[in-house]
Amino acid sequence: MGLWADAKNIREKDPAARNVLEVILLYPGFHVLVTHRIAHFLYRHRLLFLARLVSQLSRHLTGIEIHPGAKIGQRLFIDHGMGIVFGETTEIGDNCTIYHGVTLGGTGKDVGKRHPTLGNNVLIGAGAKVLGPVYIGDNVRIGAGSVVLKNVPSNATAVGVPAEVVRVNSERCCPADDLDQQALPDLQEQRIAQLEARLSRLEARLQGEYPPDRDDNARFAFAGRPPHTQPESPQSPEQE
Ligand SMILES: CC(C)(COP(=O)(O)OP(=O)(O)OC[C@H]1O[C@@H](n2cnc3c(N)ncnc32)[C@H](O)[C@@H]1OP(=O)(O)O)[C@@H](O)C(=O)NCCC(=O)NCCS
Repeated sequence: MGLWADAKNIREKDPAARNVLEVILLYPGFHVLVTHRIAHFLYRHRLLFLARLVSQLSRHLTGIEIHPGAKIGQRLFIDHGMGIVFGETTEIGDNCTIYHGVTLGGTGKDVGKRHPTLGNNVLIGAGAKVLGPVYIGDNVRIGAGSVVLKNVPSNATAVGVPAEVVRVNSERCCPADDLDQQALPDLQEQRIAQLEARLSRLEARLQGEYPPDRDDNARFAFAGRPPHTQPESPQSPEQE
């Protein structure tokens, strides 16, 4: 059902697609949604090697590397495929469009949740890189070739390297030389979005959707206890 909706969505969004059957048979952006569902299922059941195997085979087939842990919403349209990478803790909302050469990756500096979170109806142009645990709000457009390192508020367009918000609600927005205070990004909204993303990560981790990563293991090994065990309660002076 979900996959049929995904295929129909691609047919509707790609003027070059002639019918849904063509999308199902020929579109790498559709094939990868099928294989990712399998890989993500295996990942959630802790069959990590098999999950990785499926995603790597799919990468060879489609040129799209999606880590089995990535969470993808409904009706994702990946146009063309090739050179696309989504990291393990990436989260993508519904109705997003992603072109070839896009990376939703880490910066190498973060641990735990280290990849971007995309809201709904986000468009990411060809070759754009979104790096780190940043939050991209609903209805955001990221220009082709941009490198996004900061949160982007909802309804904004961000372009450039590093990317800056140039439009909010289609209104020009250039904080450096524009004194129109109405069009500035809403920092409070950004902060709430960050907190929401953080809360959803914590909930996912509590529900066991992400297995502990290498860094968790390293931290716990350093602390002298295995992952997912409660720290021993400190002994009272009488017990010692
Ligand atoms: C960013 C984009 C989505 C347009 O969004 P928009 O909200 O309609 O923004 P606009 O076209 O009004 O452009 C806003 C400003 O950003 C600039 N801009 C647009 N795209 C840009 C890009 N990729 N890089 C740098 N600047 C860009 C525009 O020149 C404009 O500058 P100005 O404020 O000086 O006038 C579009 O330009 C884009 O990059 N789409 C990706 C398409 C793609 O990857 N296609 C691949 C098909 S195979």
